[in-house]
Amino acid sequence: MVGIVIIGAQWGDEGKGKITDYFASKADMVVRFQGGNNAGHTVVVGDKTFKFHLLPSGAIQGKEIIIGNGVVIDPKVLLKELQNLASHGIKPRLKISGAAHVILPFHREWDGIEEQLKGKAAAGTTRRGIGPVYTDKIARYGIRMNDLLHKEILEQKLELLLSIKNKILELFNGAKFDKNTILSEYLTYGQQLKEYITDTVGYINQALDAKKKILFEGAQGTLLGIDHGVYPVCTSSNTTAGGACTGTGVAPTKITKIIGIVKAYLSRVGTGPVVTELTDEIGDWIRKKGHEYGTTTGRPRRVGWLDLFAVKYAHIINNFDGIVLTKLDVLGGLDKIKICTDYILDGKQLPIMPTDPYVLVKCQPKYIEVEGWPDYSEDEWTEIAKTGYEALPKAMIEYIQKIEEYLRVPVILVSIGAERNQTIEIKSVFD
Ligand code: GDP
Ligand code: IMO
Ligand code: MG
Repeated sequence: MVGIVIIGAQWGDEGKGKITDYFASKADMVVRFQGGNNAGHTVVVGDKTFKFHLLPSGAIQGKEIIIGNGVVIDPKVLLKELQNLASHGIKPRLKISGAAHVILPFHREWDGIEEQLKGKAAAGTTRRGIGPVYTDKIARYGIRMNDLLHKEILEQKLELLLSIKNKILELFNGAKFDKNTILSEYLTYGQQLKEYITDTVGYINQALDAKKKILFEGAQGTLLGIDHGVYPVCTSSNTTAGGACTGTGVAPTKITKIIGIVKAYLSRVGTGPVVTELTDEIGDWIRKKGHEYGTTTGRPRRVGWLDLFAVKYAHIINNFDGIVLTKLDVLGGLDKIKICTDYILDGKQLPIMPTDPYVLVKCQPKYIEVEGWPDYSEDEWTEIAKTGYEALPKAMIEYIQKIEEYLRVPVILVSIGAERNQTIEIKSVFD
């Protein structure tokens, strides 16, 4: 049995898309288990760049791809993604869980209104309706993909939902939604996606039992998780290894490996304290060099030094078997690089990262400083990747070793560019 979970170990955008695509070359199936089109996962193949919001990043490797029950789906976005792949001649082998919840127009509308009402406390959401759709799921009147295939059921559920939503929206001067318009639009989506909608629980478990190699691709990052992230400035799903089980129907004992994706520095889209945030010219330099602008919203990402204390927290939550380190090339050219190893609060070193923003905002980072490495060109990084690990600059190898020593987790792969061939595998994830 091979069930490998890929988790963002920071605040998202660690390079999960690139790494999932890379691992997918040797896998049979790639499964998304949470989040929705708030995610933006980039895969670069030669001169082509694919941005996935809902489809698992195994799509271009031609692997079986599954959207699990824990994902929330905006059918229009999904259809667009499928069309985009079709324009590249790719028809993915896709299955969608009938139990995955559907994002409806009033979820998006309410996301925007709620953010405004929250004022300073707003998380800076992607406004894709993620919070509102998960709210309805938990409130037990959400609409699932299966419902799009049954007119009477969908109509009944919409009637109930709209009788409540329209009242609330009216109070806040929001748009009013018409049942029949939504019904007809979403029944059409149902017909367009019908061939993919199925029971994925049985299918994934059968594949695991048949010794297929399965990747579970996380979205967002551990610190954005609803239970273990920096609440309330987080997303609405469990972005952790535990989420891979509830979001697919796979038992914890069937997960064989958990891999944490760590960016060589960090980025944050949205609000909330970031202890190692760089608001100076080094931050601007990293943002520009690392193209740190949101894949989904285009917003500039806040950036900061690598916060190993936070990654250690992510390790506690996920128990990583291996670390993948991405975007090391971006730091090339810096004289010195800082790594945060501890948080100090009221003069005392903390035992574990606090996830309460009111506490976090008062924490001071304790840094170690290490040597930087040269700023190579893209072609030079590609050449280095071709030669292998020993060709990496000495200071970079020391940086990698520092991370391994601190976390006591092996770094199994390093990424020194967005392309597939700018990757150095130290240890196969399938070993
Ligand atoms: P994800 O949400 O975790 O999948 O990450 P995103 O795709 O949102 O953001 C990562 C960005 O960095 C994308 O533009 C990738 O193409 C790019 N990227 C991934 N790995 C590397 C790397 O090692 N070096 C550089 N320079 N870019 C990378
Ligand atoms: P990937 O998978 C980075 C952030 C938003 C906001 C908060 C809540 O590409 O790493 P939401 O729309 O989910 O209600 O927004 O979470 N956020 C992300 N930040 N990468 C992501 O996904 C994100 N998905 C959501 O910026 O602060
Ligand atoms: Mg992203």
